[in-house]
Amino acid sequence: MSGTSIDGVDAVLADFSVPPCRSLAHEHGAFAPALRTELIALQQSGADELHRAALAANALMDACAAPVSALLARTGLDRKQVSAIGVHGQTIRHRPELGFTLQLANPARLAEATGITVVADFRSRDVAAGGQGAPLVPAFHAALFATADRHRVVVNIGGFANVTDLPPGGPVRGFDTGPGNILLDAWAQRHTGRLFDREGAWGAQGQSIPSLLAALRSEPYFALPPPKSTGRDHFHLRWLEHHLDAAFAPADVQRTLCRLTAQTIADAINAHCDKATEALICGGGVGNAALMRDLAEALQPRSVATTATLGVPVDQVEALAFAWLAREAIAGRPGNLPAVTGARGSRVLGAIYRA
Ligand SMILES: Nc1ncnc2c1ncn2[C@@H]1O[C@H](COP(=O)(O)OP(=O)(O)O)[C@@H](O)[C@H]1O
Ligand SMILES: [Mg+2]
Repeated sequence: MSGTSIDGVDAVLADFSVPPCRSLAHEHGAFAPALRTELIALQQSGADELHRAALAANALMDACAAPVSALLARTGLDRKQVSAIGVHGQTIRHRPELGFTLQLANPARLAEATGITVVADFRSRDVAAGGQGAPLVPAFHAALFATADRHRVVVNIGGFANVTDLPPGGPVRGFDTGPGNILLDAWAQRHTGRLFDREGAWGAQGQSIPSLLAALRSEPYFALPPPKSTGRDHFHLRWLEHHLDAAFAPADVQRTLCRLTAQTIADAINAHCDKATEALICGGGVGNAALMRDLAEALQPRSVATTATLGVPVDQVEALAFAWLAREAIAGRPGNLPAVTGARGSRVLGAIYRA
């Protein structure tokens, strides 16, 4: 799994013999700076982009093959014992309203490199069926975390944040709330030179700017009803800059962006999952202590905990979900939830590249 943060690849070795699944091992492979820079550049049109995208896809697959080898070495398993690799690819365009979503990948290359069957391109079939192609993780969140007596929401905070609503007895629903870490990372990179604001410590030195927070929250996406999904096409530094005043101190802007992520997640839960009593948080955003404090406050009186408290480490949930989706594809079972994505019906997701 490599998400919109473009921080690297998370690989898990998932065992489905104990339902719904368990993780045997996890590897994170950070992207080399040149690959990261190119994957970010390819988010927008540019010179010779088809050629560059093909080369970046190859480099990305090599960056996925390495943690696969590491997982096998660490667990002592042979590649023949692995049924499949589910590879998400790197989203470089997400325009479901135009009928496409594009995840950069070269699954044939990964199958050759690993000798393992690869399942890829999970989103395009849902988009072709009129859906958003996202989020795809709610079915997996339901398999892991739904209960018969408690109304939970799962909140994944990656580059973008998505919520899965799990009322007892269903129906499962889910959607992207808006930016998770994406703006926090971009602003921190510009002003601190680091890839992200570790523990949220830099932003925590600032003060939230109420007028800026109000202006950012007035973005129409936040008020749209689900199903909805978003991405780097919509929220980026230029979107933020449009609302900025030269007088704002950088740390104050960072503090405000932290509040924006927490508040828009809480707004979405209040608007669409208001009966939920428990929030389970996962994704890299859990590492941002200031964000977690803001979220706990904004979600009151609900209980707020991480998925780790239920035995699923916060940085493995998404990768496990795509292992699970690969398994569904090979079994010929649908992976999307039409009520979540807005697709016309259930569809088997992904293309299979046999070993
Ligand atoms: N210790 C930390 N402190 C603050 N933020 C963190 C920390 N660890 C991870 N993050 C944030 O999480 C992001 C990665 O989250 P991840 O769940 O991998 O997102 P994605 O699925 O978009 O790749 C980083 O870019 C960073 O913003
Ligand atoms: Mg990531």
